[in-house]
Amino acid sequence: MTRRAAITGYPVTHSRSPLVHGYWLKLHGIDGTYERVGVPPESAEAFYRDFASSGLVGCNVTVPNKEVAAQACDDLDEAAKAMGAANTLWLDEAGRLCGANTDGIGFLGNLDQMAPGWDENCGAALVLGAGGAARAIVWALLSRGIAPVYIANRTEQKAKDLAAHFEGDSKVLSWDNTGTVLENVSLLVNTTSLGMEGQPPLEIDLSPLPTDALVTDIVYAPLETPLLAAARARGNKVVDGLGMLLHQAVPGFERWFGVKPQVTDELRRLVLADL
Ligand code: ATR
Repeated sequence: MTRRAAITGYPVTHSRSPLVHGYWLKLHGIDGTYERVGVPPESAEAFYRDFASSGLVGCNVTVPNKEVAAQACDDLDEAAKAMGAANTLWLDEAGRLCGANTDGIGFLGNLDQMAPGWDENCGAALVLGAGGAARAIVWALLSRGIAPVYIANRTEQKAKDLAAHFEGDSKVLSWDNTGTVLENVSLLVNTTSLGMEGQPPLEIDLSPLPTDALVTDIVYAPLETPLLAAARARGNKVVDGLGMLLHQAVPGFERWFGVKPQVTDELRRLVLADL
């Protein structure tokens, strides 16, 4: 029987997930589909609580449903528990709804693929931003033993809330004061929307940053953000954000269709052409 999975959320029209999963389904010759299922907030709780009747074997969850989906699950992985949000769901053999949050895994998978060994001798990390993506990334860095993880956000209270949320060595900096730690940082991560097409660039003076530090951005449109261009120009290794999007999709595909897919250059090109 055809196995059906989907992206669920509201809206789902702009999601690139169908392209990614559709590519892997075809590549592996799997009898499966990956659909778009719009789940408006007012019906989200009922949809996830009664997931078994949807006919899907599992789904991804996007905004604004990640928290509601996590609450509807019978079982959550460590990341989803820590974040109170799930982006990947599946039904186990007993029909229980299981949830995971794979954003952090996607972030780490991207760095592991594009900058192998980045975490060996990695000192401090600086994360810019304190939204949903930052939450996943701070959690992922702490779970990899990176310390300290500095967090700076325009709205400082959000950075404080984020730091307080996780056990581990995270410290809050004021948004205009990142220069004070930059010279000790091995990894700089932008999780804000600054640098995205149509948004202002991220204004940061990189001059104190060691040239052997790694710089990465979760923005992937454009692929080379002004931050990455500036970092590259001064000799830093840079990793763009497209890989995070692709790697976060891997665990779901493996759960639903039984094959662990690869993030290949061909897939990157396919998604890039669609941006
Ligand atoms: P996501 O889930 O992708 O992380 P989000 O929760 O909306 O999205 O978070 C967006 C992040 O970009 C926030 O850290 C936001 O800062 P605030 O918490 O102060 O809003 C940051 N951001 C967006 N526009 C910004 C700007 N013009 N200057 C500085 N930070 C900005």
